[in-house]
Amino acid sequence: MNDVQHDVLVIGSGAAGLTAALALAEHKKVLVLAKGSLTGGSTAWAQGGIAAVLDAGDTFDNHVRDTMVAGAGLNRLETVEFVIEQAPQSIDRLCELGVPFNRDEDALHLTREGGHSHRRIVHVDDATGWAVQEALLNAANANPNITMLPGRSCIDLITGRNAEKYSGDGRIWGAYALNEETGQVESHLARATVLAAGGAGRCYLFSTAPRGATGDGIAMAWRAGARVSNMEMMQFHPTCLYNLEVKNFLITEAVRGEGGHLLHPETGHRFMADYDAERMELAPRDVVARAIDDQIKRFGLDYVHLDISHQPSEFVREHFPTIYDKLIGLGIDMTKGPIPVVPAQHYTCGGVLVGLDARTDLPGLWAAGECTESGLHGANRLASNSLLECFVFGEAAARDILAHWDELSDPPAIREWDATRVSDSDEQVVIKQNWTEIRRFMWNYVGIVRTTKRLERAANRIRLLQEEVEDYYGSFVVTTDLIELRNLLQAAELIVKSALDRHESRGLHYILDYPTTDEIARDTVLVP
Ligand code: FAD
Ligand code: SIN
Repeated sequence: MNDVQHDVLVIGSGAAGLTAALALAEHKKVLVLAKGSLTGGSTAWAQGGIAAVLDAGDTFDNHVRDTMVAGAGLNRLETVEFVIEQAPQSIDRLCELGVPFNRDEDALHLTREGGHSHRRIVHVDDATGWAVQEALLNAANANPNITMLPGRSCIDLITGRNAEKYSGDGRIWGAYALNEETGQVESHLARATVLAAGGAGRCYLFSTAPRGATGDGIAMAWRAGARVSNMEMMQFHPTCLYNLEVKNFLITEAVRGEGGHLLHPETGHRFMADYDAERMELAPRDVVARAIDDQIKRFGLDYVHLDISHQPSEFVREHFPTIYDKLIGLGIDMTKGPIPVVPAQHYTCGGVLVGLDARTDLPGLWAAGECTESGLHGANRLASNSLLECFVFGEAAARDILAHWDELSDPPAIREWDATRVSDSDEQVVIKQNWTEIRRFMWNYVGIVRTTKRLERAANRIRLLQEEVEDYYGSFVVTTDLIELRNLLQAAELIVKSALDRHESRGLHYILDYPTTDEIARDTVLVP
């Protein structure tokens, strides 16, 4: 017996998933599944804002150019134009949904971030993501065609191989999901599935991303047969708070956009002058993160300083109320002195390969948001282009599914999840140990500055751990921790494979053995 079937299954309740769900629900019944809570993704944590050309002095061409410069030419121009030209409409829709963007009298207030030649970031103070998540959830809750089930960890996509009448057809019919409360595995069937499961930031020891960013969507699509690309392009945000109690609190790039300086903590030297004298603190993230990493390593520092205390205290408190309150709670007054910061993993630029219609390689499977590689970000994402991508591709997926609905057929009878061969494990410590080990060697061997030797070391560790984890996975009842560990390892393997395949330094991939940039930019595409 198969579980209840909806027209469309959406995996993920962040900006990408809910945008797709809302657009689909105008015509179809949609089921949204989320691991943990409905607000557990990166969307709710976004601080800075959303990039859009809204100022008369700015142009689409400027935004396109800034995106391509940040992306070190690896971006697909067609995608960049597609997204940027739709940005103003996306912002209009969010306003209609009630997102209370900051305003300067009648116009939306625009802040500035690294890599942007103009002010073009709309925001809700310094907590834009929470406001967006709330507005999308309110709209989805009010829509009778949308059912949202939190507490469901999807394990694998359902393909023809899972049909009662086995077929080698790569078509996707939904997903198997662990009900985190009952421990049962449910099969959620649908004619179309939209993957919007976020990034893989938790592959790294230090990351600004939430606990659930374990690359589940990328790993599931890969196992089902979809290509992934540019996984070596892992973005490190330059300014994560350095604090022994709070490990992953972001200090938004808008602090630098509104005049913050990066300083050597002992000499007070404004060191960006030594790395990018023209753009200084507003150079693209890869440049700033590498400069901080260099300072930390060269001078044996634990952190550098980010200082905005030269701005009027009221201005700082008004622009950054969330950060101000958080820091005051930790004994740091950013209106009076500097903030200690370090780089940390922040965004997964690579992912499941999609076209402008959000289609993946697999019939029946669309994907949107951070789990994808759409061609927008190239070798380094421009700040605040990510939420934008979620809105544009969430809509694109819905549009394409609705346009081709009649070509999609109902799922066949599917075999239920086989839980008969497995028993309960009393060895949770194995999972914890492996999880920590992956994150540590990824940080040390596959971080901001890479070498072939370190990448090969990481590849060897991954191979050994994969044997252990697959053995474990085959023998014990699935838990969310085990699902995540398996996916984390899969994502790590894809990152390292891609990094070893790229014999140049470009954007976020900086490797000492190949320090120059090739004339022609090529994607790293991995085929399962
Ligand atoms: P997410 O919002 O991460 O949602 C993923 C969803 O998938 C969640 O609902 C999760 O529960 C679900 N999921 C995952 N695995 C499974 C599974 N196995 N089964 C079921 N469900 C699953 N970008 C900007 O443009 N501007 C910003 O200002 C900005 N600030 C940021 C600040 C921080 C601290 C961070 C971490 C990121 C920031 N980003 C920003 C990036 C941006 O927030 C994300 O890229 C974007 O929100 C991703 O949205 P998404 O819908 O793709 O995924
Ligand atoms: C930030 O606020 O610095 C994050 C912006 C982003 O990740 O795009």
